[in-house]
Amino acid sequence: MRAVVVRDRNLVVEERADPEPGSHEVAIRVRAAGLNGADMLQRQGRYPAPPGSPPDIPGLELAGTVARLGPAATRFAEGDRVMAVVGGGGQAEMAVVHERGLMRAPEALGWPEAGGAAEVLTTAHDALFTQAGLQPGERLLVHGAAGGVGTAAVQLGRAAGARVVATVRNAELRDGVAALGATVIAPEGFEQHGPFDVVLELVGAPNMVANVAALESRGRIVVIGVGGGAKAELNLLALMGKRGRISASTLRARSLEDKADAMRRVERHVLPLIETGSITVPVAATYPLEAAAEAYDRFTAGGKLGKVVLTMDA
Ligand SMILES: NC(=O)c1ccc[n+]([C@@H]2O[C@H](COP(=O)([O-])OP(=O)(O)OC[C@H]3O[C@@H](n4cnc5c(N)ncnc54)[C@H](OP(=O)(O)O)[C@@H]3O)[C@@H](O)[C@H]2O)c1
Repeated sequence: MRAVVVRDRNLVVEERADPEPGSHEVAIRVRAAGLNGADMLQRQGRYPAPPGSPPDIPGLELAGTVARLGPAATRFAEGDRVMAVVGGGGQAEMAVVHERGLMRAPEALGWPEAGGAAEVLTTAHDALFTQAGLQPGERLLVHGAAGGVGTAAVQLGRAAGARVVATVRNAELRDGVAALGATVIAPEGFEQHGPFDVVLELVGAPNMVANVAALESRGRIVVIGVGGGAKAELNLLALMGKRGRISASTLRARSLEDKADAMRRVERHVLPLIETGSITVPVAATYPLEAAAEAYDRFTAGGKLGKVVLTMDA
């Protein structure tokens, strides 16, 4: 198989041996694999893959067809269309995934959309519902809403009956995010649009003081991304006064059990909404596997609506 490989902070496409599925594993012929911020950090040597994942092949999400089953794998059959959240190794023509780390790829999604769906839908669903317990009628604020996780979160919030406000710094992308179901505002002075029951923080520390100020009583802030900074100084008295809660998490480092639990929730609650077209996966650009370096440059440049995805031949 061909795979994207990080070598000395550069990306090269190399021939590698096809991986063999173990007992409960499944070999996937990958058709598309989304890029994520974690891949950019891994390329820079700042985010090593967790144990059990290929150390030098990036890629946290993929979609493709089941090529071969491990001896004890029973959840899927050869030829099934599937999507996966993986700790690494997604950006290759073949990948081996534990069967519990897979979910079916809805027919409503083409390969690029399916390839860019699993990580962002699972991350957004876990943050909004499992962590923050978002309820119908509540006011949700999504920061950094034009990216992969943000466009997923806006749509999930709207589909759940929440009233969604989204900050988008790039004025050219605001109409696109509004079309997904949010009232879109510039990041500056966002707290004047509160109060919010739930804040999904995808940018990081610079927003945290104003997030607390804009929190509704018993509000919840969920920190998922810290690209804008990781250190904030907060007035805890203000948080106490709101009876507020801050939680934070990463998906990549979780155990198979925890990831599988989050994915089963996506299967149950999100895939049906994709089938009906209520939730889409916006893809800003696709690149063939051999143009991975260009794809990474496009991701890093920002100013995109949704995902950047690598595609592989059948
Ligand atoms: N915790 C987890 O498990 C987990 C999982 C997935 C992703 N993440 C993290 O969550 C964040 C969002 O992920 P993503 O896939 O949606 O990334 P993405 O597609 O790159 O989108 C990030 C969005 O945030 C905006 N943004 C970045 N820095 C900003 C700033 N300083 N002020 C205002 N807006 C800013 C970007 O705007 P521009 O286009 O203008 O730059 C872009 O629209 C990333 O930090 C990612 O690493 C965490």
